[in-house]
Amino acid sequence: MQQQWQEVDEFLEHSLLVPDENLAQTLALNAKQGLPAHDVSPLQGQFLMLMVQISDARRILEIGTLGGFSTQYMARALPTDGKLVTLEKEATNAAIAHENLQRAGLLDKTTIIVGAAAQTLPTLQTQPPFDLIFIDADKQNSLLYLEWAIELSHTGSVIIMDNVIRGGAIVEAQRDVSANGIHQALSAVKGFETLTGTALQTVGSKGWDGFALFRVQK
Ligand code: DHB
Ligand code: MG
Repeated sequence: MQQQWQEVDEFLEHSLLVPDENLAQTLALNAKQGLPAHDVSPLQGQFLMLMVQISDARRILEIGTLGGFSTQYMARALPTDGKLVTLEKEATNAAIAHENLQRAGLLDKTTIIVGAAAQTLPTLQTQPPFDLIFIDADKQNSLLYLEWAIELSHTGSVIIMDNVIRGGAIVEAQRDVSANGIHQALSAVKGFETLTGTALQTVGSKGWDGFALFRVQK
């Protein structure tokens, strides 16, 4: 099925997306620097961009920058006075993301904070809450990141979590640490009265995966 999913994704990309030189150069630089190909697909990036626009988000938090590909889709959708804070554990990844965001002219809207998110998330408590939070870091700590996303949000905030299906691995008996981290986070949701959630299984150029989507009510 992967080949047909790929072909359909190519058709949808050509039909729905406007080619963008900065985004293409971002993927090229990320590959050249040897980053893992864990970026969202262009169609998924456009989904994130639309979520920012539809929710009228002005303050975005991204947990897990990598090379800043999804960062660009979300930051581009912000109004001129909007802000995006993105957290990245690896300084080398953050430097690549910085270069990509600079080329795209998005540095004035974005702040990259380097360090393990478990350490940097508490420093954001002094800032106003975020309107939209995208969780896309190490999957092992998904529950911790979801808890922080709730902490740093307000009624009406949107939380999106990437890679919640992992080719079906989240329901396998012998889950790896990543699938287990996602399973743990999703299993905890019914205990959070502040969250209304769903998940969308997706297929395409990145195989079989999905997004979880939540609204916060405090
Ligand atoms: C992995 C992480 C991602 O964020 C992603 O989009 C795909 C895969 C991973 O760690 O395997
Ligand atoms: Mg991801």
